[in-house]
Amino acid sequence: MTETNYHDVLIIGSGAAGLACALSLADKMSVALLSKTGIKSGSTWWAQGGIAAVLDDADSVEAHVQDTLVAGAGLCHQERVRQIVERGRDSIDWLLDKGVEFTRIEGESDFLHLTREGGHSHRRIIHHQDRTGQAVSHSLSDRVLEHANIELFENRIAIDLVTQADKGSAKIRCNGAYALDLESKEVSLHQARVVILATGGASKVYLYSTSPEGASGDGIAMAWRAGCRVANMEFNQFHPTCLYHSQARSFLLTEALRGEGAVLLTPGGKRFMPDFDERAELAPRDVVARAIDHEMKRLGLDYVHLDISHRPAEFVRSHFPTIYENCLALGIDITSDPIPVVPAAHYTCGGVVVNGHGETDLQNLFAIGETAFTGMHGANRMASNSLLECIVYAQLAAEQVSRVIDAIPRPDYAKPWDESQVTHSDEDVVISHNWDELRRFMWDYVGIVRTNKRLQRALHRVELLKSEIQEYYSNYKVSNDLVELRNLVVVAERIILSAMQRKESRGLHYSLDHPDLSPIAQDTIMVPINFAGQDVIVNRNT
Ligand code: FAD
Ligand code: SIN
Repeated sequence: MTETNYHDVLIIGSGAAGLACALSLADKMSVALLSKTGIKSGSTWWAQGGIAAVLDDADSVEAHVQDTLVAGAGLCHQERVRQIVERGRDSIDWLLDKGVEFTRIEGESDFLHLTREGGHSHRRIIHHQDRTGQAVSHSLSDRVLEHANIELFENRIAIDLVTQADKGSAKIRCNGAYALDLESKEVSLHQARVVILATGGASKVYLYSTSPEGASGDGIAMAWRAGCRVANMEFNQFHPTCLYHSQARSFLLTEALRGEGAVLLTPGGKRFMPDFDERAELAPRDVVARAIDHEMKRLGLDYVHLDISHRPAEFVRSHFPTIYENCLALGIDITSDPIPVVPAAHYTCGGVVVNGHGETDLQNLFAIGETAFTGMHGANRMASNSLLECIVYAQLAAEQVSRVIDAIPRPDYAKPWDESQVTHSDEDVVISHNWDELRRFMWDYVGIVRTNKRLQRALHRVELLKSEIQEYYSNYKVSNDLVELRNLVVVAERIILSAMQRKESRGLHYSLDHPDLSPIAQDTIMVPINFAGQDVIVNRNT
């Protein structure tokens, strides 16, 4: 191990949650910010549609709360939803203050343009054209780079958390992380009084996903291994409309297209969503993705069409410039042609269990953003509620850290990273093969529609892979792909076991063997064998 760093706070991840949290803390303490790629990264960079917040006088916090609860299919934690939604306007003001530019109403530049997405009963999506994530990421990273109290470590992938038993009490606390420098290939130790996981979701566990970046569930897996509970991992959201094209993988077509009138058609030109739900194309995502899946299977299709060509060409070009340009480069003019689309894995509704301040089961370890399970999204996240949750929980966590940090001692010990028993791998093909196999069987057996038999098959395979990957990890030096694969297999196992435990169909979890909704709505909470918390009120389930 070459390097040891110390900061008051270590934040792992520089998406919306990590950047916002760093900025909310750095005036008072020193912050290390780690990203396994560059600073402008994560799903945040790719976010298109926008951020949900109540700004219109005709809208209300109550309506936003209700819409979120309906989309969440009975599993949202109402107090958390309210906590987040009530801070919507302040979050937008905070972002504006940090320099984020949002699209304004033409001719009325004092007012932000509000678009609409599925599940929302009002126009309440604040956006920057169809590249909201880039606007957020640009401005927040610029502010981070200007801040003298934030030290940025790019191309550094956290491998595992460092934990220590508290002297005199049974509590386990987190006081840092080991990370691999992807350039020097050396492992460094990052010590801190507080560690904040902001590593995003785990959609990369599926073969097709909307995120071009490594949403490999690193934070969820690290927290689980360190003794934290994870919840509701079966609720993986599939976005209904990802571009279907041989030269374009992982390109999203924002739900705002449907919000502005785009319709879904079979290649034969029949509009089908009204047959499935009275809200048609603006039904929540689980409903739309399942309807597309149903039509594709029923008619033997590779894709369906999304069509906005009936709107004026100038409107389409100015509201959706990124999509317009990307599709045109592939020979699809969206002002006149329908766009081929398929559903793809998009968002992890479950995650590391946290309280109302983002604190996990481990002392001094927080989780925020898509990594965390706050209770906001229930069985199905409503569009544009994620970036809102990222900003709100980044600030809630920062407020709590500011309150407690002075009482947390500076870490004095960490076990050195030991590479004495490992060698360089001479069989990288094992990693790429296992990686591919894992993502493929997750797509085939644990996708939009599930059955007991498919889940059983997936479990059998994941257990085999897990032991193979663990053996590999014990024998060879770590690499980016090995770290991600080791995490993906943990997350995949949690998803499968959670799905097996849910004997009903609710929100994003649909089982042909259990098609009905249970009258009792319950979270699926998994407790690790080395559980670090004090009060376990649920059954142990490993
Ligand atoms: P991310 O933005 O994913 O960032 C994760 C960060 O962690 C990255 O910096 C990554 O490099 C780093 N990281 C991960 N693992 C490690 C590790 N082991 N070591 C070091 N660093 C690590 N939501 C909305 O609300 N509105 C939208 O319009 C919207 N559009 C979307 C469009 C797309 C294509 C996708 C994929 C998602 C969209 N979402 C949207 C969801 C939303 O973008 C994400 O949920 C949100 O951006 C997550 O932010 P985050 O900060 O939690 O994580
Ligand atoms: C989209 O723009 O369709 C994605 C919005 C979201 O995931 O919240």
